[in-house]
Amino acid sequence: MRIIVCENYEEVSKKAAQMILSQVTLKPNSVLGLATGSTPIGMYENLVSLNKKGDIDFSEVRTFNLDEYYNLPKENDQSYHYFMYKNLFDHININPENIHIPNGMTDDVDAECERYDELIKEAGGVDIQVLGIGNNAHIGFNEPTINFEKGTHLVQLEDSTIEANSRFFDNIEDVPKKAITMGVGSIFKSKKIMLVATGENKAEAIYNTVYGKVVPEVPASILQFHSDIVLILDKEAAKFL
Ligand code: GLP
Repeated sequence: MRIIVCENYEEVSKKAAQMILSQVTLKPNSVLGLATGSTPIGMYENLVSLNKKGDIDFSEVRTFNLDEYYNLPKENDQSYHYFMYKNLFDHININPENIHIPNGMTDDVDAECERYDELIKEAGGVDIQVLGIGNNAHIGFNEPTINFEKGTHLVQLEDSTIEANSRFFDNIEDVPKKAITMGVGSIFKSKKIMLVATGENKAEAIYNTVYGKVVPEVPASILQFHSDIVLILDKEAAKFL
């Protein structure tokens, strides 16, 4: 595990964007695994401005998002579809056909999960997976549980996750209780992983990820076994390391 501790959020965002820039420069048709949540927003802003300046070209890039709320229409401003277009896709030269996000409105969850895993496989796997981390060390929407899930699947969100994410909704009852997420196995299969975390409320999850026992109750702990992973943290998130 490589750990980079930055002064602040701006530096984290810049470093993370630079890693994507190197990836896409080396391989223009890279497969990027993308994440939502507030932490990567700064990284997306940097990518948008690099793209505007002509420094990064997304025309051949393919993307797969980690997760989507279940039963929340794409048009809802809290859906991860909406988030990704607003923060990235609407502002870069990506081919819309190369954008993949799980369909949370599916009426056949198993078929949708299978379809998503198949698409990732057909694309040759994810070259670099961007991750945030939940306060309970969840990655994507893989909540603490009793076994690591392999592929894309439907999950029941933990109360603490619903509460954490309620800050974006008008009231807590509006937060979806389920989501479709790539599995820990799918994440682990990515050739490279870059996890971004900032703020003191992530410090314990980061400590457990780096030094804790590798157990499914701390989903991110499995990342200790990955051969090419970098954690980009600010000082607050790194404070127990
Ligand atoms: C959600 C997403 C995760 C993200 C987490 C943390 O639960 N499914 O992918 O890592 O939020 O979000 P934030 O960066 O806002 O703390």
